[in-house]
Amino acid sequence: MAVQTVSQILTSLVLAAADAAADTAGRAGVLPVVESVASTGNPRFGDYQSNHAFRLGKALRSNPRAVAEQMVARMPAHPAVARIEVAGPGFINFYLDDAWLCRQLVAQHQDRAGGVPQVEPGRTVVIDFSSPNIAKRMHIGHMRSTIIGSALQRLYEACGYTVVADNHIGDWGTQFGMLIVAWRRWLDPQAFERDPVGELERLYVAFRDAAATDPALDDLARQETARLQAGDPENRALWQRFIDISLREFQGVYDRLGVAFHVTLGESFYHSALPGVVEALLAAGLAEKSDGAVVVRFPDDHPVKAVRGRTLVIEKSDGAYLYGTTDLATLEHRLATWSPVEIQYITDGRQQLHFQQVFAVWRSWRTWRKLDPNAVKLVHTWFGTLKLPEGAMSTRKGNVIRLVDLLDEAVRRARAVVDAKSPDLSAQQRAEIAEAVGVGAVCYADLAQNPQSDVVFDWDRMLAMEGNTAPFLMYSYARCRSLQRKGGPKAAAVPLSAAACPHQLERALVRTLVRLPEVVAAALASHRPNLLCDYLFECAQATNRFYFELSVLQADTAEQRQSRLALIELTAGVLERGLAILGVPSLPRM
Ligand code: ARG
Repeated sequence: MAVQTVSQILTSLVLAAADAAADTAGRAGVLPVVESVASTGNPRFGDYQSNHAFRLGKALRSNPRAVAEQMVARMPAHPAVARIEVAGPGFINFYLDDAWLCRQLVAQHQDRAGGVPQVEPGRTVVIDFSSPNIAKRMHIGHMRSTIIGSALQRLYEACGYTVVADNHIGDWGTQFGMLIVAWRRWLDPQAFERDPVGELERLYVAFRDAAATDPALDDLARQETARLQAGDPENRALWQRFIDISLREFQGVYDRLGVAFHVTLGESFYHSALPGVVEALLAAGLAEKSDGAVVVRFPDDHPVKAVRGRTLVIEKSDGAYLYGTTDLATLEHRLATWSPVEIQYITDGRQQLHFQQVFAVWRSWRTWRKLDPNAVKLVHTWFGTLKLPEGAMSTRKGNVIRLVDLLDEAVRRARAVVDAKSPDLSAQQRAEIAEAVGVGAVCYADLAQNPQSDVVFDWDRMLAMEGNTAPFLMYSYARCRSLQRKGGPKAAAVPLSAAACPHQLERALVRTLVRLPEVVAAALASHRPNLLCDYLFECAQATNRFYFELSVLQADTAEQRQSRLALIELTAGVLERGLAILGVPSLPRM
């Protein structure tokens, strides 16, 4: 049986009470079912609070305080609830029972899903993330997409979705003709040997520079692109080589970040479907010819405000197809292949208009075909820019840096911290810890912000042992494990049923830990992993207060020691589960 979350339990009590209260007034079921219970930030308002009486009072045109009192009088009894009170103009405050809270926490700990409410099985979500371009370095935007995308992937999985992680790489287009020309003329084999993607990037820039003074080069590149697209074996082989080289480099980063894709279906995969998309949109009257090109014009009264008056080119006058054309074909393919309930696109904010246009055309096209335009939820989860601090790393060309270098730098700095803190560990152990802390810190620093705000990368802050950082959370976890080791062989295996929370610091810890499932659900609903970060930070703070103020191993009684050891195990469980969703490793020793 799935474990219900505290807010689910209290919500059903509130709704039952509301129905009973409204029934008195002859108005049962006047309000739609919504969650109307929230955890409070202040113990003066109880553990959870409901504002449902305000909504019901409005619907019934009665005084909310009176409604709240009627509701409380009719509230079914439940072992979770120790006390209920009506506060202020009509809030209902719930005080939870200590022993019940501990039992609930244990039930969540033992649940395979950690107590996180699961969607019905078989609901699929496609997440399109990372999606870098071949023969180019991943830029910071791709890094953010990779980190945020894989955190979302794990959030969806935590809620029971089947996820298809799709790396929609940019592996098609006119830049390949340029690269082929440049490769044949200017390749520096030694440089290529040392840094393959760097050399491809240099070749591309070299081509651009040369073509600026010699326009004949552009014609040549066009011919090579055309030959590539027509299947010329030599050009195909080179192109494949560019892809392999780039994917190998990307894979190095993915491995370190713990990212794995189910499919890597790049733009080239959809190439043969593009003429069909253009024809279909023309036939549907959604696209029109304009100076030899094919375009979709969005009318000034289009229901989607962002696209009003805009034009999306889907075929250029030279017959080339565009980014949006590919995205339309991609959407068709995803729907036909996986029947997802939702598709998530993770890119930076500059692509907002692009996706709004693609989604809008696609929906009209579905409607024209008498298919449900809302058969799948389309979500563009965009993020702000991330800047590196001045002078922290050489970033000659804007924010284009090697991600490997960024990770290496983080690990190097983490190593200095680990060396200072744990000189007793072997060099091998310290290297492993530094890798985990460095990479974890990079991911966490990105995820801990609201994705849509701009972020400045601050090495000292992200590697700090105090504050909302990966190292702080990782240390809090490692401290639990170290305490269990110190407690001897039985310490990690105490019966969890021993957990109790008579002291207010224990109570505060338990009350925080029990919220994990609710927070995971909220982070998913808002597509904001930072909610989970904030929460884990809260857990770590409550753990530290508990840990430093109360003796665990030297507790006054055997019973108290058992209980506190059980709390340590339950705490480690919550931190480990939460960090895993964020892609931050939990190390037993640091
Ligand atoms: N390759 C693109 C870029 O680097 C991102 C692709 C995002 N996904 C998509 N289906 N358009 O900007």
